[in-house]
Amino acid sequence: MSRIVIATHNPGKIKEFLPLLAPLGLEPVSAGELGLAEPEETSDTFPGNARIKALAAARASGLPALADDSGLSIAALGGAPGVYSARYAAGDYPAAFTRILTAAEAAQEFRAWFTCALCYAQPDGTTATYIGEAHGRVAAPQGTAGFGYDPIFIPDGYEQSYAELGAEIKDGISHRARAFAQFAETQKTFQRS
Ligand code: IMP
Repeated sequence: MSRIVIATHNPGKIKEFLPLLAPLGLEPVSAGELGLAEPEETSDTFPGNARIKALAAARASGLPALADDSGLSIAALGGAPGVYSARYAAGDYPAAFTRILTAAEAAQEFRAWFTCALCYAQPDGTTATYIGEAHGRVAAPQGTAGFGYDPIFIPDGYEQSYAELGAEIKDGISHRARAFAQFAETQKTFQRS
């Protein structure tokens, strides 16, 4: 098994990454376990911030690293908060849900989409970035599974929120799963060659 750093301090994301990595023969070690500092996310794009986090972890640890930058875009808010999703909630998700749902109700526009940029970085500075999106709509919060905005997001093709559907379904259809599937393909090619 080769070790790979999961360059995130977000427990919700770490939990989702673990089952994805095992089948690839990659042994995950988290940035927290290695005592790595969290770099400042100074970019205004998902791929830009994913690259900052992955490169910082790869350089500091001397191991390949995988980082995700992700967020929820709300059509009624012109695509906000997007890359600023964590800052928009500032730890108070119920308040953020109310702001989002108030805007969606006012505009009668409920479409929303998650984006995930996943960056794989090597200690020598080489990077590759993969993008996954998941489209759906926002609705009153329901369910307790997952993290962040999961209770208000209903993916297309379903009638329940990510927080109601739970990991078994979310991990097959989410923005993170879609970005990860592209990364996994490159790892399989690498293992075959
Ligand atoms: P960052 O990528 O660490 O800057 O933060 C991404 C933020 O977007 C998280 O803190 C959540 O608020 C939100 N987010 C990203 N992915 C998900 C998800 O799968 N479910 C719910 N919220 C998410």
